Amino acid sequence: MSGKPHDAGPPPVQLWTRDGFQGALSAVTRQTYAPDYLSVQGPHAPRRTVLDRLRVDDQDDPEALPTTVATSRLGVKLHVSGRRKPMPYVVRNVEADEIHFIQSGTVRFETDVGCLVATEGDFVCIPRSVAYRFAPTGDAMRSIIVESPSSLRLTPPVPSGLLNVARDLKYAEIDSGMPAGGPTRLLLKTLDTENTIFMMPHDPLALGVRLSESVPVWKLNLANIQVHAYLPEGGPPSQFLSSGAGDIVMFNLSARPGARAPVHINADFDEVICYVRGPGAWGGCTEPGTLTCVPKGVIHHGPSEDVPEGYQAWLLETRATLRWTPRAIEASQLMETGNYAPHPSTMK
Ligand SMILES: [Fe+2]
Repeated sequence: MSGKPHDAGPPPVQLWTRDGFQGALSAVTRQTYAPDYLSVQGPHAPRRTVLDRLRVDDQDDPEALPTTVATSRLGVKLHVSGRRKPMPYVVRNVEADEIHFIQSGTVRFETDVGCLVATEGDFVCIPRSVAYRFAPTGDAMRSIIVESPSSLRLTPPVPSGLLNVARDLKYAEIDSGMPAGGPTRLLLKTLDTENTIFMMPHDPLALGVRLSESVPVWKLNLANIQVHAYLPEGGPPSQFLSSGAGDIVMFNLSARPGARAPVHINADFDEVICYVRGPGAWGGCTEPGTLTCVPKGVIHHGPSEDVPEGYQAWLLETRATLRWTPRAIEASQLMETGNYAPHPSTMK
């Protein structure tokens, strides 16, 4: 943080933008570094955590569901999983699509439409009402799960360029050797506080053959999503995925050339960024699996993305106003919004 009036060169620009990168904007200048704040109280504050520091229930209890780290009035939620044992039941989320991002480990997913093995950096899409279970193939894993009531789909700006779908999008495939199995619990996940559990006579994920062309469960690795840059001045990243209602948009925010974004206020979207790994640092984010959140309307700058050593990160923008759960707050720190390091007040 600079913490002092701007005293050299042209005064810094401050933007206010509607609809993320899509809408109206206003630009002004200021004499001071706008992201600086002395203190903050209340829930609508920028925070950061590191996924490995979160105590997650399914790490030690195979029966547990992933641990919720953020919720919202619109039903958008974030969860973290750290399984060491396979799920002993099957889940079907009947209220939301899910994107599972694999931060570490290798994870086998078995679903209503086939199986796939996801590795570090993979996004796995499981649409609403597709039943699944997952298991680490080693002895540990860590994933972030984004839950979206509005359906999610790949929406790159043009059909080729940002994504090479034919090469990099991998669909679930049916494992016809999976035994029919015995009685299996099927948990229907709803917005109720209590889940609904069916006892099925056989494993509901044991399938025969695929008849349709389309497969709704897929994986895509962050490293295979190209970055889009406007040179030399810089500009917004390009989305690769969004919800039908436009209330969730996701971007690859890994290193790219171009000037640093201006200080800005995002009027409509909370910004969740996962710094996945280096080698390079992204400003104040150096630990793999650093999760940052700047709520809508909170002025911020963000570190330069032009990091020659490279790093990997992704950005989730959501119109839903997220609230960290007590468990997540306990494991998190207040964040300054210049370089996304812990706020100086947390160092005292
Ligand atoms: Fe922003």
